[in-house]
Amino acid sequence: VSVVAIDVAPSASEATYQVRIGRGLLAEAQDTADGFSHCFVLTDRNVAAQHLKSLGPALGHEPAVLEPGEASKNAATLTAVLESMAASDLDRQSLVVTLGGGVICDLGGLAASLFMRGIGVLHCPTTLLAQVDASVGGKTAINLSSGRNLAGTFHQPLAVLADVDTLATLPEIEFRSGLGEALKTALLVGEDLLHLLEGQAEAVGERDPDLLQALVAGCVRAKADIVAADEREEGPRKALNLGHTFAHGIETAAGPGRIPHGQAVAVGLAMAGRCAEACGVLEDDTLPERIEAILGALDLPRSLQDLAAAFGADLTPTGVILGMRHDKKGRAGTPALVLPRSLGKVALDFEPEDGLLEKVLA
Ligand code: GLY
Repeated sequence: VSVVAIDVAPSASEATYQVRIGRGLLAEAQDTADGFSHCFVLTDRNVAAQHLKSLGPALGHEPAVLEPGEASKNAATLTAVLESMAASDLDRQSLVVTLGGGVICDLGGLAASLFMRGIGVLHCPTTLLAQVDASVGGKTAINLSSGRNLAGTFHQPLAVLADVDTLATLPEIEFRSGLGEALKTALLVGEDLLHLLEGQAEAVGERDPDLLQALVAGCVRAKADIVAADEREEGPRKALNLGHTFAHGIETAAGPGRIPHGQAVAVGLAMAGRCAEACGVLEDDTLPERIEAILGALDLPRSLQDLAAAFGADLTPTGVILGMRHDKKGRAGTPALVLPRSLGKVALDFEPEDGLLEKVLA
């Protein structure tokens, strides 16, 4: 498989960077690191055991290793990482290298943006979710006790190396979770990317590296276009939140880390489709059913009942709606939803009238 290289030119930042997608790319991290005074590798215990050696002996030498999982994405861990960066004598010419999934990308990106008011970061995403979404576009974050991603910055990476070989060892639930986020992007782009998931669901599920490379590249291309138009999420970038207000409500109701993000997004996409249908913004009547059929083909959940069965979470419509009202995109307790109109077309900032969410979630 050859490498696909996609340039990202964020609208509000000066530097363009490259996202490289292909096999065996972790070995390239050292080339980027060579230009920096020090490198600080941030990873988690599971990823370190599997992929640290692929960074090579110099970079893989003394990483900062976090406990895997969403529970690490908090202010205490961020402070510990910053202290560890200072203790490692990093300076303004140093580089942070993140090796891991969304938690490591988001927290490592935030640490890089804060340390000495901002140093460079190279993302090496090792989950499908981080390759198709979290590593691209410069959003960084930690969770606060009242919600997910409530504290963060925009800090674009210097480059992203998406090595599709790392996806071969991903636990099935995590892999499927990434497919939920990929489906979101495909719904924003149109038939070509959606066809990969819809028409070749089985081969994608078997993790064919060529298909995965095409899927990641398609999602990154779409995201690069959106970030080039609206880096700071003042307009079109909001489309990337399709299904996410529902998902955040689900994640908040279930408790932190209980449900993998992309699995919650999967149900959020189904809910967004049904909500669009119920409130009359839908232009393509076949879309909600199509979304649910693709979720089924990808072995992803479609309802709160599916999530409850898979993760033992106690999820009620009331609890989810309460979580949605705390979503940071909303205004004074009213969620601002992104709803699908047709393939490739969404409604932004939709404020549901009283009773609509209750009806859809029931
Ligand atoms: N994950 C959504 C965004 O980057 O805007």
